[in-house]
Amino acid sequence: MFETLETLPADAILKLIAEHRNDPREHKVDLGVGVYRDVDGSTPIPTAVKKAEQYLVDNQSTKAYLGSGGDAVFNAEMQRLTFGTDWDGSERITTIQTPGGSGSLRIAAGLLLRARPDATVWVSDPTWNNHVPLLGGAGLTLEAYPFYDADTNRLRFTEMLERLGELPAGDIVLFHGCCHNPTGLDPDREQWRAIADVVAERGLVPFIDIAYQGLANGLEEDRYAIELFAERAEEMLVSSSCSKNFALYRDRVGTLSVMSRNPAENAVVSSQMMQLVRTMYSVPPDHGCAVVSHILRDAALREEWLSELAGMRERLISARGMLVDALADRAPGHDFSHIRAANGMFSFLGVSPEQVQRLKQESAVYMVSSGRINVAGITPENIDYLADSIASVL
Ligand code: LMR
Repeated sequence: MFETLETLPADAILKLIAEHRNDPREHKVDLGVGVYRDVDGSTPIPTAVKKAEQYLVDNQSTKAYLGSGGDAVFNAEMQRLTFGTDWDGSERITTIQTPGGSGSLRIAAGLLLRARPDATVWVSDPTWNNHVPLLGGAGLTLEAYPFYDADTNRLRFTEMLERLGELPAGDIVLFHGCCHNPTGLDPDREQWRAIADVVAERGLVPFIDIAYQGLANGLEEDRYAIELFAERAEEMLVSSSCSKNFALYRDRVGTLSVMSRNPAENAVVSSQMMQLVRTMYSVPPDHGCAVVSHILRDAALREEWLSELAGMRERLISARGMLVDALADRAPGHDFSHIRAANGMFSFLGVSPEQVQRLKQESAVYMVSSGRINVAGITPENIDYLADSIASVL
Protein backbone atom coordinates (compact mmCIF):
# COMPACT_ATOMS: atom_id res chain seq x y z
CA MET A 1 0.00 0.00 0.00
CA PHE A 2 2.85 2.43 0.60
CA GLU A 3 3.46 2.62 -3.14
CA THR A 4 0.57 5.09 -3.17
CA LEU A 5 2.60 7.60 -1.16
CA GLU A 6 4.96 10.29 -2.44
CA THR A 7 8.21 11.48 -0.91
CA LEU A 8 7.66 14.80 0.79
CA PRO A 9 10.21 17.61 1.04
CA ALA A 10 11.97 17.84 4.41
CA ASP A 11 10.88 20.62 6.78
CA ALA A 12 12.71 23.78 5.70
CA ILE A 13 14.01 24.60 9.19
CA LEU A 14 14.76 21.13 10.55
CA LYS A 15 16.68 20.06 7.44
CA LEU A 16 19.17 22.87 8.07
CA ILE A 17 20.22 21.15 11.32
CA ALA A 18 21.45 18.08 9.41
CA GLU A 19 22.91 20.07 6.51
CA HIS A 20 24.95 22.21 8.86
CA ARG A 21 26.02 19.22 10.96
CA ASN A 22 27.22 17.33 7.87
CA ASP A 23 29.13 20.29 6.39
CA PRO A 24 32.85 19.55 6.94
CA ARG A 25 33.96 23.20 6.53
CA GLU A 26 35.41 24.37 9.84
CA HIS A 27 34.37 28.00 9.50
CA LYS A 28 30.65 27.12 8.96
CA VAL A 29 28.07 29.38 10.62
CA ASP A 30 24.61 28.26 11.70
CA LEU A 31 21.93 30.97 11.63
CA GLY A 32 19.18 28.39 10.98
CA VAL A 33 17.03 26.66 13.57
CA GLY A 34 15.90 28.74 16.55
CA VAL A 35 18.08 27.56 19.38
CA TYR A 36 19.98 29.88 21.70
CA ARG A 37 23.78 29.86 21.53
CA ASP A 38 26.27 31.46 23.89
CA VAL A 39 29.40 33.39 22.81
CA ASP A 40 31.20 30.08 22.28
CA GLY A 41 28.48 28.83 19.95
CA SER A 42 27.15 26.23 22.45
CA THR A 43 23.57 25.65 23.56
CA PRO A 44 24.19 25.03 27.27
CA ILE A 45 21.82 23.49 29.78
CA PRO A 46 21.10 26.28 32.31
CA THR A 47 22.58 25.69 35.76
CA ALA A 48 19.10 26.02 37.30
CA VAL A 49 17.90 23.18 35.03
CA LYS A 50 20.87 20.99 35.97
CA LYS A 51 20.20 21.56 39.67
CA ALA A 52 16.50 20.80 39.28
CA GLU A 53 17.35 17.60 37.39
CA GLN A 54 19.66 16.57 40.22
CA TYR A 55 16.85 17.29 42.68
CA LEU A 56 14.54 15.02 40.67
CA VAL A 57 17.13 12.23 40.52
CA ASP A 58 17.41 12.39 44.31
CA ASN A 59 13.76 12.92 45.19
CA GLN A 60 11.37 11.81 42.49
CA SER A 61 9.70 8.69 43.79
CA THR A 62 7.61 7.52 40.84
CA LYS A 63 7.24 7.76 37.11
CA ALA A 64 3.67 6.48 37.10
CA TYR A 65 1.32 8.08 34.58
CA LEU A 66 0.06 11.60 35.02
CA GLY A 67 -3.45 12.29 33.78
CA SER A 68 -4.01 13.67 30.28
CA GLY A 69 -3.76 17.24 31.57
CA GLY A 70 -0.38 16.66 33.22
CA ASP A 71 0.75 17.91 36.59
CA ALA A 72 -1.65 20.35 38.28
CA VAL A 73 1.19 22.11 40.12
CA PHE A 74 3.14 22.70 36.91
CA ASN A 75 -0.01 23.90 35.17
CA ALA A 76 -0.80 26.40 37.93
CA GLU A 77 2.76 27.77 37.92
CA MET A 78 2.75 28.11 34.12
CA GLN A 79 -0.64 29.79 34.17
CA ARG A 80 0.76 32.42 36.54
CA LEU A 81 3.87 32.79 34.37
CA THR A 82 1.90 33.43 31.18
CA PHE A 83 -1.16 35.30 32.51
CA GLY A 84 0.47 37.11 35.44
CA THR A 85 -0.36 36.94 39.10
CA ASP A 86 -2.62 40.01 39.37
CA TRP A 87 -5.36 38.79 37.11
CA ASP A 88 -8.00 36.76 38.88
CA GLY A 89 -9.77 34.73 36.23
CA SER A 90 -8.37 31.29 36.78
CA GLU A 91 -11.80 29.69 37.30
CA ARG A 92 -12.41 30.45 33.61
CA ILE A 93 -9.11 28.98 32.39
CA THR A 94 -7.94 25.42 31.89
CA THR A 95 -4.19 24.98 31.50
CA ILE A 96 -2.75 21.64 30.45
CA GLN A 97 0.80 20.38 30.14
CA THR A 98 1.65 19.66 26.50
CA PRO A 99 4.56 18.18 24.54
CA GLY A 100 6.15 21.55 23.71
CA GLY A 101 4.51 24.47 21.97
CA SER A 102 3.78 22.36 18.88
CA GLY A 103 1.81 19.80 20.92
CA SER A 104 -0.11 22.69 22.42
CA LEU A 105 -0.94 24.14 19.00
CA ARG A 106 -2.13 20.74 17.81
CA ILE A 107 -4.53 20.27 20.74
CA ALA A 108 -5.75 23.85 20.26
CA ALA A 109 -6.44 23.04 16.60
CA GLY A 110 -8.49 20.00 17.61
CA LEU A 111 -10.51 22.05 20.07
CA LEU A 112 -11.17 24.86 17.58
CA LEU A 113 -12.30 22.35 14.96
CA ARG A 114 -14.83 20.93 17.39
CA ALA A 115 -16.05 24.27 18.71
CA ARG A 116 -16.17 26.29 15.52
CA PRO A 117 -15.49 24.11 12.46
CA ASP A 118 -16.40 26.86 9.96
CA ALA A 119 -14.22 29.57 11.44
CA THR A 120 -11.07 30.84 9.79
CA VAL A 121 -7.82 31.13 11.73
CA TRP A 122 -5.91 34.25 10.67
CA VAL A 123 -2.12 34.08 10.85
CA SER A 124 0.39 36.88 10.31
CA ASP A 125 2.04 37.24 6.92
CA PRO A 126 4.64 35.89 7.40
CA THR A 127 4.46 33.48 10.31
CA TRP A 128 6.48 30.57 11.74
CA ASN A 129 7.19 28.02 8.96
CA ASN A 130 5.35 25.28 10.82
CA HIS A 131 2.18 27.19 11.76
CA VAL A 132 0.52 26.60 8.42
CA PRO A 133 1.34 22.88 7.99
CA LEU A 134 0.59 22.17 11.66
CA LEU A 135 -2.71 24.03 12.00
CA GLY A 136 -3.79 23.62 8.38
CA GLY A 137 -2.80 19.94 8.42
CA ALA A 138 -5.04 19.46 11.43
CA GLY A 139 -7.95 20.63 9.27
CA LEU A 140 -8.32 24.33 10.13
CA THR A 141 -8.95 26.90 7.41
CA LEU A 142 -6.16 29.47 7.46
CA GLU A 143 -5.84 32.94 5.97
CA ALA A 144 -3.15 35.58 6.41
CA TYR A 145 -3.39 39.16 7.70
CA PRO A 146 -0.78 41.80 6.74
CA PHE A 147 2.10 42.02 9.22
CA TYR A 148 5.50 42.78 7.70
CA ASP A 149 6.65 45.00 4.86
CA ALA A 150 9.76 43.39 3.38
CA ASP A 151 10.65 46.55 1.43
CA THR A 152 10.86 48.81 4.47
CA ASN A 153 11.40 46.11 7.14
CA ARG A 154 8.61 47.63 9.20
CA LEU A 155 5.27 46.41 10.56
CA ARG A 156 2.30 46.95 8.23
CA PHE A 157 0.43 48.12 11.27
CA THR A 158 -2.29 50.22 9.63
CA GLU A 159 -3.07 47.50 7.08
CA MET A 160 -3.09 44.86 9.80
CA LEU A 161 -5.58 46.86 11.85
CA GLU A 162 -7.78 47.52 8.82
CA ARG A 163 -7.83 43.83 7.90
CA LEU A 164 -8.64 42.75 11.45
CA GLY A 165 -11.42 45.34 11.46
CA GLU A 166 -13.09 43.58 8.53
CA LEU A 167 -13.05 40.02 9.88
CA PRO A 168 -16.31 38.28 10.74
CA ALA A 169 -17.18 37.82 14.42
CA GLY A 170 -16.06 34.46 15.75
CA ASP A 171 -12.94 34.13 13.56
CA ILE A 172 -9.72 33.31 15.37
CA VAL A 173 -6.59 35.45 15.15
CA LEU A 174 -3.19 33.97 15.93
CA PHE A 175 -0.67 36.44 17.39
CA HIS A 176 2.93 35.91 18.48
CA GLY A 177 3.03 37.08 22.12
CA CYS A 178 6.60 38.39 21.71
CA CYS A 179 9.71 37.84 19.55
CA HIS A 180 7.70 37.38 16.35
CA ASN A 181 8.98 34.42 14.33
CA PRO A 182 10.38 35.04 11.68
CA THR A 183 10.63 38.87 11.73
CA GLY A 184 11.53 39.64 15.36
CA LEU A 185 9.22 42.69 15.11
CA ASP A 186 6.56 43.04 17.80
CA PRO A 187 3.82 45.65 18.10
CA ASP A 188 4.61 48.19 20.83
CA ARG A 189 2.23 48.60 23.79
CA GLU A 190 0.14 51.28 22.16
CA GLN A 191 -0.20 49.12 19.05
CA TRP A 192 -1.17 46.08 21.13
CA ARG A 193 -3.91 48.15 22.78
CA ALA A 194 -5.25 49.19 19.38
CA ILE A 195 -5.18 45.55 18.23
CA ALA A 196 -6.97 44.39 21.39
CA ASP A 197 -9.65 47.06 20.85
CA VAL A 198 -10.35 45.85 17.30
CA VAL A 199 -10.35 42.20 18.41
CA ALA A 200 -12.90 43.03 21.15
CA GLU A 201 -15.07 45.24 18.91
CA ARG A 202 -15.22 42.61 16.17
CA GLY A 203 -15.84 39.69 18.54
CA LEU A 204 -12.71 37.86 17.34
CA VAL A 205 -11.01 35.16 19.40
CA PRO A 206 -7.33 35.84 20.21
CA PHE A 207 -4.99 32.87 20.07
CA ILE A 208 -1.54 33.75 21.40
CA ASP A 209 1.53 31.67 20.64
CA ILE A 210 4.21 32.61 23.17
CA ALA A 211 7.30 30.53 22.51
CA TYR A 212 9.95 33.09 23.56
CA GLN A 213 8.67 34.61 26.82
CA GLY A 214 11.51 36.42 28.57
CA LEU A 215 13.72 36.81 25.52
CA ALA A 216 12.42 40.20 24.35
CA ASN A 217 12.22 42.58 27.32
CA GLY A 218 11.68 40.38 30.38
CA LEU A 219 9.35 37.70 31.67
CA GLU A 220 6.63 40.08 32.85
CA GLU A 221 7.05 42.64 30.06
CA ASP A 222 6.71 39.93 27.41
CA ARG A 223 3.28 38.80 28.58
CA TYR A 224 1.76 42.25 28.04
CA ALA A 225 -0.38 41.12 25.08
CA ILE A 226 -1.73 38.14 27.02
CA GLU A 227 -2.65 40.29 30.03
CA LEU A 228 -4.36 42.76 27.72
CA PHE A 229 -6.40 40.17 25.84
CA ALA A 230 -7.28 38.35 29.06
CA GLU A 231 -8.81 41.57 30.43
CA ARG A 232 -10.85 42.29 27.31
CA ALA A 233 -11.66 39.02 25.57
CA GLU A 234 -14.38 36.59 26.59
CA GLU A 235 -12.57 33.60 25.16
CA MET A 236 -8.93 33.10 24.23
CA LEU A 237 -6.23 30.46 23.74
CA VAL A 238 -2.57 30.62 24.75
CA SER A 239 0.09 28.17 23.59
CA SER A 240 3.33 28.47 25.53
CA SER A 241 6.68 26.75 25.21
CA CYS A 242 9.62 26.31 27.59
CA SER A 243 11.93 25.15 24.78
CA LYS A 244 13.80 28.44 24.58
CA ASN A 245 13.47 30.23 27.93
CA PHE A 246 14.42 27.10 29.91
CA ALA A 247 16.52 25.63 27.03
CA LEU A 248 14.57 22.38 27.34
CA TYR A 249 14.14 21.99 23.59
CA ARG A 250 14.24 18.21 23.31
CA ASP A 251 12.37 17.55 26.54
CA ARG A 252 9.16 19.00 25.02
CA VAL A 253 7.71 21.31 27.64
CA GLY A 254 4.72 23.54 26.97
CA THR A 255 1.18 24.39 27.95
CA LEU A 256 -2.16 25.10 26.37
CA SER A 257 -4.39 27.51 28.28
CA VAL A 258 -7.96 28.03 27.15
CA MET A 259 -10.12 30.78 28.62
CA SER A 260 -13.91 30.34 28.44
CA ARG A 261 -16.75 32.74 29.22
CA ASN A 262 -17.62 31.24 32.60
CA PRO A 263 -16.69 28.36 34.94
CA ALA A 264 -19.45 26.08 33.57
CA GLU A 265 -18.15 26.40 30.00
CA ASN A 266 -14.64 26.00 31.29
CA ALA A 267 -15.57 22.58 32.71
CA VAL A 268 -16.93 21.51 29.31
CA VAL A 269 -13.86 22.79 27.46
CA SER A 270 -11.58 21.08 29.96
CA SER A 271 -13.30 17.71 29.35
CA GLN A 272 -12.87 18.18 25.59
CA MET A 273 -9.16 18.99 25.99
CA MET A 274 -8.59 15.86 28.10
CA GLN A 275 -10.33 13.70 25.53
CA LEU A 276 -8.33 15.22 22.66
CA VAL A 277 -5.09 14.45 24.50
CA ARG A 278 -6.17 10.93 25.42
CA THR A 279 -6.93 10.11 21.80
CA MET A 280 -3.74 11.71 20.47
CA TYR A 281 -0.85 10.93 22.83
CA SER A 282 -2.72 9.85 25.97
CA VAL A 283 -0.60 11.63 28.58
CA PRO A 284 2.16 14.25 28.24
CA PRO A 285 5.88 13.61 28.84
CA ASP A 286 6.87 14.77 32.30
CA HIS A 287 10.61 15.13 32.86
CA GLY A 288 11.04 18.67 31.49
CA CYS A 289 7.81 19.82 33.08
CA ALA A 290 8.90 18.50 36.47
CA VAL A 291 12.16 20.43 36.06
CA VAL A 292 10.32 23.68 35.27
CA SER A 293 7.86 23.13 38.07
CA HIS A 294 10.66 22.69 40.61
CA ILE A 295 12.52 25.77 39.38
CA LEU A 296 9.42 27.95 39.54
CA ARG A 297 8.61 26.86 43.11
CA ASP A 298 12.11 27.08 44.56
CA ALA A 299 12.92 30.75 45.26
CA ALA A 300 16.68 30.39 44.88
CA LEU A 301 16.48 28.33 41.69
CA ARG A 302 13.93 30.68 40.23
CA GLU A 303 16.27 33.62 40.84
CA GLU A 304 19.12 31.70 39.26
CA TRP A 305 17.01 30.86 36.21
CA LEU A 306 15.83 34.48 35.86
CA SER A 307 19.40 35.68 35.86
CA GLU A 308 20.39 33.06 33.26
CA LEU A 309 17.40 34.12 31.16
CA ALA A 310 18.51 37.76 31.41
CA GLY A 311 21.96 36.64 30.25
CA MET A 312 20.43 35.00 27.17
CA ARG A 313 18.40 38.11 26.41
CA GLU A 314 21.42 40.40 26.70
CA ARG A 315 23.53 38.11 24.56
CA LEU A 316 20.89 38.22 21.77
CA ILE A 317 20.80 42.02 21.93
CA SER A 318 24.58 42.18 21.73
CA ALA A 319 24.68 39.73 18.78
CA ARG A 320 22.25 41.99 16.90
CA GLY A 321 24.45 45.02 17.57
CA MET A 322 27.58 43.15 16.47
CA LEU A 323 26.02 42.26 13.12
CA VAL A 324 24.61 45.72 12.40
CA ASP A 325 27.96 47.37 13.24
CA ALA A 326 29.97 44.89 11.17
CA LEU A 327 27.68 45.29 8.16
CA ALA A 328 27.70 49.09 8.41
CA ASP A 329 31.42 49.07 7.50
CA ARG A 330 31.10 46.51 4.73
CA ALA A 331 27.78 47.42 3.13
CA PRO A 332 27.32 51.15 3.78
CA GLY A 333 24.55 51.47 1.18
CA HIS A 334 22.26 49.05 3.02
CA ASP A 335 20.04 49.74 6.01
CA PHE A 336 20.12 46.97 8.61
CA SER A 337 18.69 49.02 11.49
CA HIS A 338 15.61 46.75 11.67
CA ILE A 339 17.89 43.97 12.94
CA ARG A 340 18.84 46.06 15.97
CA ALA A 341 15.20 47.03 16.57
CA ALA A 342 13.92 43.45 16.60
CA ASN A 343 13.37 41.12 19.58
CA GLY A 344 14.47 37.60 20.42
CA MET A 345 16.28 35.31 18.04
CA PHE A 346 15.07 36.21 14.58
CA SER A 347 15.23 38.87 11.89
CA PHE A 348 15.06 38.93 8.14
CA LEU A 349 18.47 39.70 6.70
CA GLY A 350 16.85 41.07 3.53
CA VAL A 351 18.44 38.64 1.05
CA SER A 352 16.85 36.58 -1.72
CA PRO A 353 16.62 32.77 -1.76
CA GLU A 354 19.42 32.81 -4.39
CA GLN A 355 21.65 34.84 -2.07
CA VAL A 356 20.83 32.43 0.78
CA GLN A 357 21.89 29.55 -1.48
CA ARG A 358 25.15 31.30 -2.37
CA LEU A 359 25.92 31.97 1.28
CA LYS A 360 25.51 28.26 1.97
CA GLN A 361 27.50 27.04 -1.01
CA GLU A 362 30.27 29.62 -1.08
CA SER A 363 30.67 30.41 2.61
CA ALA A 364 29.00 27.61 4.65
CA VAL A 365 26.64 30.19 6.19
CA TYR A 366 23.26 28.58 6.90
CA MET A 367 19.89 30.32 7.20
CA VAL A 368 16.26 29.67 6.21
CA SER A 369 15.65 30.33 2.49
CA SER A 370 13.37 33.28 3.36
CA GLY A 371 16.50 35.03 4.65
CA ARG A 372 15.48 34.57 8.30
CA ILE A 373 18.53 34.54 10.56
CA ASN A 374 18.87 33.33 14.13
CA VAL A 375 21.14 36.00 15.63
CA ALA A 376 22.21 33.59 18.40
CA GLY A 377 24.52 32.01 15.80
CA ILE A 378 26.61 35.21 15.69
CA THR A 379 29.70 35.13 17.90
CA PRO A 380 32.69 37.44 18.44
CA GLU A 381 34.75 34.76 16.73
CA ASN A 382 32.70 34.43 13.53
CA ILE A 383 31.38 37.99 13.13
CA ASP A 384 34.08 39.26 10.71
CA TYR A 385 33.86 36.17 8.53
CA LEU A 386 30.06 36.28 8.60
CA ALA A 387 29.83 39.99 7.73
CA ASP A 388 32.38 39.56 4.89
CA SER A 389 30.37 36.60 3.55
CA ILE A 390 27.08 38.52 3.67
CA ALA A 391 28.63 41.59 2.04
CA SER A 392 29.99 39.38 -0.77
CA VAL A 393 26.48 38.42 -1.90
CA LEU A 394 24.77 41.80 -1.51
C1 LMR B 1 12.39 27.82 14.72
O1 LMR B 1 11.52 28.53 14.23
O2 LMR B 1 13.51 27.70 14.23
C2 LMR B 1 12.10 27.07 16.00
O3 LMR B 1 10.83 27.39 16.45
C3 LMR B 1 12.32 25.61 15.88
C4 LMR B 1 11.30 24.92 15.01
O4 LMR B 1 10.80 23.91 15.48
O5 LMR B 1 11.02 25.36 13.91
